[in-house]
Formats: sequence, structure tokens, C-alpha cells
Amino acid sequence: MKEQLEAMRRTAEEQIKNFNLRSELEAFRVSFLGKKGELTAILKQMGKLSAEERPAMGQLANEVRAYIENQLTEKSEELKKKELRDRLQKEKLDVTMPGERRELGHKHPLSIVLDEVKDIFFGMGFDVATGPEIEWDYYNFEALNIPKGHPARDTQDTFYITENMLLRTQTSPVQMRVMEKQKPPIRIIAPGRVYRSDAVDATHSPLFHQIEGLVIDEGITMGDLKGNLETFAKRLYGEETKIRLRPHHFPFTEPSCEIDVSCFRCGGKGCPMCKGEGWVEILGAGMVHPKVLQNGGIDPEKYSGYAFGIGLERIVMFRFEIDDMRLLYENDLRFLSQF
Ligand code: PHE
Repeated sequence: MKEQLEAMRRTAEEQIKNFNLRSELEAFRVSFLGKKGELTAILKQMGKLSAEERPAMGQLANEVRAYIENQLTEKSEELKKKELRDRLQKEKLDVTMPGERRELGHKHPLSIVLDEVKDIFFGMGFDVATGPEIEWDYYNFEALNIPKGHPARDTQDTFYITENMLLRTQTSPVQMRVMEKQKPPIRIIAPGRVYRSDAVDATHSPLFHQIEGLVIDEGITMGDLKGNLETFAKRLYGEETKIRLRPHHFPFTEPSCEIDVSCFRCGGKGCPMCKGEGWVEILGAGMVHPKVLQNGGIDPEKYSGYAFGIGLERIVMFRFEIDDMRLLYENDLRFLSQF
């Protein structure tokens, strides 16, 4: 029995040394020291011993058990440390490793120019006003002196939601909404999306952008319109830029005009950029019609004003020499990353 115990101690020592997992240790503990374990089996034979032999053998058995338990605890501690070391090693963060670069986006050309336009008008004391893209027929047409059946509706055909509700064809309805809420002096721009039922081609889109402008005060004249918009054109395209007013007709301004800017490419001589004209049309404008002022609750005897509508796509395309409007909406990075 003594030999059995000694042999057991040696085997245990040997095996414990070679374990690599704590789960192995536990299985070993059960098979050696557990109720059905080897040591218990040996101790069961104690009954066969004489009364004199028993205490010494009992002591030895206890020693062996204590020894093995001790070994198991030590090994378990050692493995615990090793596991921690391995884990730390595995989870180590290498701060010197190059990161994954995320490409930084930037403003869309429409936004680049819109922001510039806003800055220019802010500098001249304008505020920004907004209106809904789904608009009442009243604001989009009626109040702007375009009654049902007026030929001006033909050129601004749009998408109707009901008979009286539509996608606005112009930002001009914002003029009326501002007049209803604010008394003169008024000095606002209203940028936004507008819609027309146009087929898509290089110069048309059913959705595009305008920047409306409205100035109303006592004694506003065509001279203010011309001076302010000339300043705007020079700030946007450079000091040498000239503007040209051509007579035109809009039902909600009187007199009305279209404004061209001299081509910044050729300075007015004519080139492919301006299609040989020397000039490029960028906006429609005029003195606010007395009827429109009245519709907005403003006394046309006391106040006068001017309004304008800039085509954002136009000035962007001219500015960046883009020859196809579709490029502005296709979100092709090969195009967009050039700005
Ligand atoms: N709303 C007009 C258009 O879309 C432009 C315009 C605005 C003209 C303001 C005069 C005054 O064509």
C-alpha cells in the first residue's frame, strides 16, 4: 500500500507538470482525489491493515493527498497567469499600425456656389427665407398675377397633387409668403428646389434650383436692381464682369428684364463657352408688380421693390464650365471629386 501511494504521488507529479489547460487539471483532480478516485480506492483497503499499521498509512495518504492538491493549486495558478499573458498578447493593440483611411467627402458643386451666393447677399444685408416645395396654386401662380388659363402657365407646366396643390415651378411664391408675414423693409433671398414637367437633357431637368431675391422699401428703383445685381455678378465672377439687361416679360414684375453676364472666359468677345455670344443669361428680374404688392398686403403707393430669380444650375455650369446638367445629379465620384 505504501508503494501504491508513493507510485501515485510520482505519476501525479509527472502528469500535472505536462498539463496545459486548467480543464485538464480539474478532470485529473476528480479522477485522483474524487469520491470514486484512485486515492479513495486505495484508502478503502485500509480495513485490511493491522491496527498498528493504520495510523502511519493514514498519515502517508493524507500527505500524498495534500501534496497532490498543492501541486494542482500551483499548476492552476501558473496556467491562470499563462492564459492571461496569452490573452494580453493576442489582444495587444499596435498603435503604430497604419489606420484604415476614410475618404473625406466635400461639398457638391451646387452647394459650393450656393454658399458663395449666400455669402455675397449676406454681405449686402439680405436674410434667407424659405417656402414649401409642395405649394398652393394660389402662391405659385394666382397671387403672382398668373390666373388660371394664363399662357405663362404653359411654360411652367408642373406636377399637380390636387387641382390646387402642386410642386412649385419657381421660388417666386416665397415672395408672397414673405410679404404676408413681414412688413417692409424686406431684403431676402430664397434658395430652393423647383419642379417642371420637362424631359431630361443636357440643359433641362424636372427638378432644379433657383435663388429668389426680393427687396421692398420706400423709393426702391430699377437703379437699385441694376446696382445690386451688378455687384453680385462681380463678386461671383470677378471685377471685370459686366452685366446687360434685356427687356423681358414676367407677369409678376413690371418692367421685367433678363440679366446676362459677360463671359468670364473670353471677356465678351465670344467663345465656345458662351456659344459665341459673349454673354450668358443667369437670371430673370424686374420691379415687383403693384398687384403683387397689393396681394401681399403692401401699399404700392408707398412702397416699391424689385425681385429676381437666379438659376443655380446655370451659374454653376457656367462657373465650372460644365456642359451637361445631368452630371450634377448623377453622383458620379469621377465627376464630383473634381471640385
Ligand atoms: N420666377 C421666374 C422664373 O422662374 C424668375 C423671376 C423671379 C423673374 C423674380 C422675375 C422676378 O422664370
